[in-house]
Amino acid sequence: MKMNTLVVYFSKFGNTQKAAEAVGRALETAGAVRFLALDRLTAAALEGVDLVVMGTPTHRMNLPEAIQPALADLPKRILCDVRFAAFDSSYKLSGFLARFTAAPKLARKLGCLGGKRVLPPETFHVAEKEGPL
Ligand SMILES: Cc1cc2nc3c(=O)[nH]c(=O)nc-3n(C[C@H](O)[C@H](O)[C@H](O)COP(=O)(O)O)c2cc1C
Repeated sequence: MKMNTLVVYFSKFGNTQKAAEAVGRALETAGAVRFLALDRLTAAALEGVDLVVMGTPTHRMNLPEAIQPALADLPKRILCDVRFAAFDSSYKLSGFLARFTAAPKLARKLGCLGGKRVLPPETFHVAEKEGPL
């Protein structure tokens, strides 16, 4: 059976978008893949979707403030039983700081929206704030 994937992302400088496109391209071998900016995510966009892959940059060891309203506005159980994977793009920090990236927080949010996590949160590193990835 073909898998229907929706790749959702927020990207300020384009690095998270590049990572989203690479992940999406890889998933095209399993079926149809669509891309969507996070602030355009609606219940209608999730119709028939088997897998949501969502990515954001890490800002101040957290999810970017710019996406908080969009996430907060999503209907409560919008991801009910939809499989998901979360990723971020972040600096390559060493030691305990490396643990404070956006993806685990994003994964928790998506779980609260009813989604079923299928992979651990993933990080793609940028060399500088504006890239390269
Ligand atoms: C305001 C701001 C805060 C940031 N804070 C962090 C941080 O706490 N940890 C980290 O690893 N990277 C941090 N970064 C680096 C971003 O993660 C990096 O710029 C981002 O991955 C680029 O993604 P984008 O090109 O999709 O916007 C910060 C960047 C900005 C602009």
